[in-house]
Amino acid sequence: MSVSRVGLIGAGAIGRAHLVGAAGAQGVEIVGVADPNPAARALAEEFSVPWFADHQEMFDKTSPDGAIIATPNALHVPMSLELIAAGKAVLVEKPITDTVEEGLRLAQAASDADVPLLVGHHRRHNPIIRTARSMVQEGKLGRLVSATVLATFFKHDAYFNEAWRRTKAAGPILINLIHEIDLLRFVCGEIESVQAVASNAIREFDVEDTAAVVLRLKNGAVATITLSDTAASPFSWDTSSGENASFPKTSVESHFLCGTEGSLALPTLRLWSYEGERSWLRPIQEGAVESQAANPYIEQMRHFGAVIRREEEPLVSGFDATKTLRVTSSIRQAAQSGTAVHFD
Ligand SMILES: NC(=O)c1ccc[n+]([C@@H]2O[C@H](COP(=O)([O-])OP(=O)(O)OC[C@H]3O[C@@H](n4cnc5c(N)ncnc54)[C@H](O)[C@@H]3O)[C@@H](O)[C@H]2O)c1
Repeated sequence: MSVSRVGLIGAGAIGRAHLVGAAGAQGVEIVGVADPNPAARALAEEFSVPWFADHQEMFDKTSPDGAIIATPNALHVPMSLELIAAGKAVLVEKPITDTVEEGLRLAQAASDADVPLLVGHHRRHNPIIRTARSMVQEGKLGRLVSATVLATFFKHDAYFNEAWRRTKAAGPILINLIHEIDLLRFVCGEIESVQAVASNAIREFDVEDTAAVVLRLKNGAVATITLSDTAASPFSWDTSSGENASFPKTSVESHFLCGTEGSLALPTLRLWSYEGERSWLRPIQEGAVESQAANPYIEQMRHFGAVIRREEEPLVSGFDATKTLRVTSSIRQAAQSGTAVHFD
């Protein structure tokens, strides 16, 4: 197998996860890290990768086949466009950008130039999520009826020392909910409408600390998401899945998919169904679905290498990621107006 040579632009919190992912993935080599921050230089040294203060210099010196853009959101589009113009494949972190219009512009530019663009919705690379998606698509749960998502956790006090995190530029709807919307779209199906209620009653910042979201899917199922960054709770994918070593793993479930023939809880993949007649008056049987555990950041990086070599199509295209952004960014609007937002 040939090896795809990749540069990393932005080596902060998620940049580290990409370096760990690349270290464990076949077919990818990180050839440089570009980030002016001194902490990024130390990180590059830790992984024995050449460091550059500027991504142009990294391109000139290393000529990568593609690059990961793990910088703040406002840089996603300009940096991606620069790479696309140079014919280099892009893995850009989520959200693809801040607005639907810019997301579409970027997706179109990649398509027009025929340069691969992959967006970093890493959960789609988790075998647990992929197994759940297959089960829903193959009708193993019967017809999907509902999905219940709990995304309740407690962000430590020091997190809010940075003023912008107490404003509407942050908040759990913008920062965390996008993962749940993408998961619902990928596993359960496209979203038809959203309604929402948001509250700042506990932290009393300008931005919400808690929200409840109700979604109707195009296949007729309904879904709810309960979201809070001020709940002393283990019930969230980040803490239950063990995907990210920053969050100590708990053994609870956070996602519940219910169908006419059975129900599936995640991340455990516990399956509940009846033998014989379905009735709440009869015992329901508990079973387990097999799935090979894997680090989604490693799998995402293996996939990016294959995308660069044109062996695989991007699992999350720019157009796809923009659909996730569109639903996510309408949720505050739905909470403020008190009315449903519908999608085509
Ligand atoms: N997929 C996920 O699970 C996940 C998790 C966290 C963050 N993210 C996304 O990743 C991106 C970065 O988030 P983070 O939490 O790592 O932020 P961060 O602040 O920890 O890191 C960002 C890094 O970008 C660097 N940077 C800024 N301007 C730069 C430039 N011009 N050239 C090179 N480097 C530059 C900064 O010095 C910093 O080290 C955001 O878009 C965020 O939404 C994704």
